[in-house]
Amino acid sequence: MKRAKFDLFMSLSRQRSVQVLILIGFLYVVLVGFEVPFVFRNGFSLVSQDGFGTGQFSKSSVLDSEEELADKKAPIRPLFDVPLQVPPIQSSKPERNIREIKNPLSSLFFDGSFVNMTSKDGFSGILKSAKEAFEVGRKLWKELELHKKEVGFLESNNNKTIEQCPHSISMSGFDFQGKGKRMMVLPCGLTLGSHVTVVGRPKRAHQEHDPKISLLKEGQFLMVSQFMMELQGLKTVDGEDPPRILHFNPRLKGDWSGKPVIEQNTCYRMQWGTAQRCEGWRSRDDEETVDGQVKCEKWTRDDDANHSEQSKASWWLNRIVGRKKPVSFDWPFPFSEDKLFVLTLSAGLEGYHINVDGRHVTSFPYRTGFALEDATGLSLNGDVDIDSVFAASLPTSHPSFAPQRHLDMSNRWKAPPLLSQPVDLLIGVLSAGNHFAERMAIRRSWMQHRLVKSSNVVARFFVALHGRKDINVELKKEAEFFGDIVIVPYMDNYDLVVLKTVAICEYGVHVAFAKNIMKCDDDTFVRVDAVIKEVNKIPENRSLYVGNINYYHKPLRSGKWAVTYEEWPEEDYPPYANGPGYVISSDIANFIVSEFDRHKLKLFKMEDVSMGMWVEKFNSTRHVQYVHSLKFSQAGCVDDYYSAHYQSPRQMICMWNKLQQQGRPLCCNMR
Ligand SMILES: *[C@@H]1O[C@H](CO)[C@@H](O)[C@H](O)[C@H]1NC(C)=O
Ligand SMILES: *[C@@H]1O[C@H](CO)[C@@H](O)[C@H](O)[C@H]1NC(C)=O
Ligand SMILES: *[C@@H]1O[C@H](CO)[C@@H](O)[C@H](O)[C@H]1NC(C)=O
Ligand SMILES: *[C@@H]1O[C@H](CO)[C@@H](O)[C@H](O)[C@H]1NC(C)=O
Ligand SMILES: *[C@@H]1O[C@H](CO)[C@@H](O)[C@H](O)[C@H]1NC(C)=O
Repeated sequence: MKRAKFDLFMSLSRQRSVQVLILIGFLYVVLVGFEVPFVFRNGFSLVSQDGFGTGQFSKSSVLDSEEELADKKAPIRPLFDVPLQVPPIQSSKPERNIREIKNPLSSLFFDGSFVNMTSKDGFSGILKSAKEAFEVGRKLWKELELHKKEVGFLESNNNKTIEQCPHSISMSGFDFQGKGKRMMVLPCGLTLGSHVTVVGRPKRAHQEHDPKISLLKEGQFLMVSQFMMELQGLKTVDGEDPPRILHFNPRLKGDWSGKPVIEQNTCYRMQWGTAQRCEGWRSRDDEETVDGQVKCEKWTRDDDANHSEQSKASWWLNRIVGRKKPVSFDWPFPFSEDKLFVLTLSAGLEGYHINVDGRHVTSFPYRTGFALEDATGLSLNGDVDIDSVFAASLPTSHPSFAPQRHLDMSNRWKAPPLLSQPVDLLIGVLSAGNHFAERMAIRRSWMQHRLVKSSNVVARFFVALHGRKDINVELKKEAEFFGDIVIVPYMDNYDLVVLKTVAICEYGVHVAFAKNIMKCDDDTFVRVDAVIKEVNKIPENRSLYVGNINYYHKPLRSGKWAVTYEEWPEEDYPPYANGPGYVISSDIANFIVSEFDRHKLKLFKMEDVSMGMWVEKFNSTRHVQYVHSLKFSQAGCVDDYYSAHYQSPRQMICMWNKLQQQGRPLCCNMR
């Protein structure tokens, strides 16, 4: 009650101050008149900065009333918000027609039927996963369409906001196995640094008769002792098994290898991934690590059973005698029948880490498609008795709050309609479903440029579908409201971003009729007029490829981002412009789209290298002018940039304000 009153008071006082502002704005207009646009511009950006600062806090009480708010602010929004009034470019060509495009779905069509699923060719790997991703995407999209009919959006969202996000949860073994149905619900998922501790005791081996596990003929059996700990995404899908974001399966007895092992895996839409097996050997030194930890630690195997007892003894002996020689001590398999264990699972930067009895045992890198906040259930099944389960350092805010908090559903940020004649530039921004804050920051910053507002430059976000339904629901709503999102209907996957690049070309050629096409990321700040100016230096009618171009780069053949010889057989990459900001001419885009439609386009998981490869091929028939400029900054921001990379939402707003207030491209080096 108290809170509601407070809100009421706040909104009353806001109304009053808005009225005062209107009055001041009106006086301002009368006194200063229309002859000093410079002053106007500065005044505006001050207001917009202010609006950004308070917008986040007032959001919850304001959700239903932006229309009103936008109207009240109208007297002091002279330049940018009313696209149809001001821009001189437009009024000089009054005959331009406007097109309305309602459907946010990309018209890029991926024909999966031609993909050879048995081919071992390195380039066909990506086609196989593209085919699968589009199939899943089709289902996801269908679900979304149905969802709209079933429930109103607001209703389904309102209920979620009631759910509490505890910082920690503890359950006794009795509650866990009885009422909890061997499941601990983590209402708001996990976050970086969250950890779950399980105290339990593996049961003695039992006779396994399930032929699927024992792989033996009927009447025969195997002695098996194993258990499964899983992080499940309880909220991501309706009507089917929840995805297993982490499946941790110690097999004390009964694995086909005859040795105790730990298997780890993920399972999405009932499809298991590739298992990571730890069999007692330490991961090789050249294998990728997870936050600096190896994926598998060594433990003593039966094959050297005596060794363990010996080394334990000699280790102690050496300590007592005081030898300096380093002695390695081998630990046994971390679980044994009927013995208590304390297992801790923690969420690191790069993956999950599992410690047993205080010792690191395995690490499992995160797989694409899932965020930590998706892990909303911990289950423990199999041959194990649970004493207690604790989860702590859990996130204290529900992730589904996030989209609403970041989006400002105000008409002023809507994309202006497309014109029915060619535009100078299409800027395609690669984005991910849950990057609501990033997209909003771009809308509030460089997408407010007058060239974008007048539709001479068109900017669109290219987003694929997310594994989580509620994110897709929000995304679709966002797309329908702002009109600046193109949804490429496949299940998002980092190795498939190249498909979004093709979708950008398709949109540029078939929808926006753009003369040139720029690709950037949602952490790229673009100086729209500077890019156009740079491109216009090249005589019209030339094919062009402008960006921060790498010559003679070689694929990394080892380490985390390794590219195999199957994926890229040649020693060098073709010359290619860095991904966060480059421009191609529409004839190149047209070539790319038609090759794609004819199933002739080679796809490589690095989208910028792919573009280099396609432009090189195009150049063999028609000369392309390559323009290299470091001002398409790759590693961050340089003063006098054309585009700047790795910019956070706050930096975007800061850079835009600097550009408006000081008229110069300056960096904002805060985080
Ligand atoms: C698919 O690839 C396999 C292996 O490269 C090849 O033997 C087979 O003929 C291909 N099938 C088609 C339809 O191209
Ligand atoms: C929201 O909650 C109300 C009451 O708590 C319930 O009647 C309604 O069915 C819920 N809506 C949804 C979509 O779950
Ligand atoms: C263990 O040690 C005993 C005696 O020292 C020996 O007979 C046996 O072969 C050893 N076993 C293994 C697996 O090395
Ligand atoms: C542009 O190039 C095309 C073909 O290369 C040519 O037909 C056309 O006349 C050129 N236009 C101009 C304005 O140079
Ligand atoms: C483009 O083609 C021309 C010949 O038509 C060639 O001289 C040039 O090296 C090519 N550029 C690149 C970057 O491949």
